[in-house]
Amino acid sequence: MSVSSPLAGKKILLGIAGGIAAYKCVELTRRLTEFGADVRVVMTTSAKSFITPLTMQAVSGHAVADDLLDPNAQSGMGHIELAKWADLILLAPATANLIARLRAGFADELLTTLCLASPAPIAVSPAMNMEMYLASATQENIAVLAQRGMHIWGPGEGPQACGDIGPGRMLEAHQLVDLVVDFFAPQKAIFKNVNITITAGPTQEALDPVRYISNHSSGKMGFALAEVAQKMGANVTLITGPVALTCAANINRIDIKSALDMHAASLQTLDHCDIFIACAAVADYRPEVIAQEKMKKQSGVENLTLHLVKNPDIIADVANHLDRPFCVGFAAETENVEAYALDKLQRKNLDLIAANDVAKADQGFNSEKNALTVFAAKQRFDITLADKKKVAQQLLEVIHQQYSTTNND
Ligand code: PMT
Repeated sequence: MSVSSPLAGKKILLGIAGGIAAYKCVELTRRLTEFGADVRVVMTTSAKSFITPLTMQAVSGHAVADDLLDPNAQSGMGHIELAKWADLILLAPATANLIARLRAGFADELLTTLCLASPAPIAVSPAMNMEMYLASATQENIAVLAQRGMHIWGPGEGPQACGDIGPGRMLEAHQLVDLVVDFFAPQKAIFKNVNITITAGPTQEALDPVRYISNHSSGKMGFALAEVAQKMGANVTLITGPVALTCAANINRIDIKSALDMHAASLQTLDHCDIFIACAAVADYRPEVIAQEKMKKQSGVENLTLHLVKNPDIIADVANHLDRPFCVGFAAETENVEAYALDKLQRKNLDLIAANDVAKADQGFNSEKNALTVFAAKQRFDITLADKKKVAQQLLEVIHQQYSTTNND
């Protein structure tokens, strides 16, 4: 290890709960220690059914703590010392049970007691069956932990141990290590005292009380921008359509459903908005009439025509406001990416536009990664394919550079 190791001297308490993903903690601990971190491991009783304390002791180089009332442990590093020692508590895998117990504030075993007793930031990496993850109790518990300031890292999506396919997989070891490195990376507060409004996610345009028109935006790109902008010192307002994501309590989150709601909420932020970033995938049209009752299928009617009317263009209205903020749009294109993006830059009166080619696999809508080409009137910047947080970081650096130039003119 060299002093330039990204995690040199960082003290990480890894809390392992009882889930099949516990096996990933061997690789996780190995990588964290290779990057210079000092890792101490705490395991719940059920975690030991999935991985042995001896294995975790071997990879971390320290005895594993697992008992709240262990007299030997208390004479060495007891739970209060461990709680004070940590720079970061990383809970991985965080099972539905652990998350519920954290929310309720249990202190009847070592791991939850440590979390209660520690002033250290806590990162929670959920891992469970997709139905358990999507259950409203779990979603509510995770939202409460996020509101309390805990970092929610993941889960990923894909095939699960039980055979289901969906959200609930613990992030891979290398993804968690990247998040830990980002977490400790010194972040210059380049947006101190700057108010940034970000739109994110899809809009839902109701047809009747049970149906709507929408799109595949997950909100991940917009939420990544919000999180990184906030870390860069900005006061962030995040106006989001319906998504299954949480954000830190110090982000001013406004939940909306339709384009009209998003339009109204966006205009309301303009009296204190310096930079407006429109990352949302807004429906261009909405049903002209929303049926009061569920529309019934009519026998003999094979075709149905819906009358749609145009939604207001939110970013264009913001950009044409008398006291306009610095305006950044996105362009989601499947062909002629550059030409369409430049057309939107000009037509919507924007300062910057970030174009993504959403026809490419593994980027854009509902993926973990993205790649952008950012256009200003006379300049372009390429941001290559990377995790959405890294893309957000680079895009915000470009925005900062352009915004500062505009403001100093
Ligand atoms: O949410 P994710 O799954 O992470 O996916 C991210 C993303 C692909 C949705 C995002 O990167 C992106 O490209 N967002 C813009 C999608 C879009 O609707 O693009 P557009 O080309 O249709 O719209 C151009 C710009 O006008 C966008 O900034 C859009 O927010 C804005 N717009 C569009 C219509 C409208 N009525 N009002 C608007 O403000």
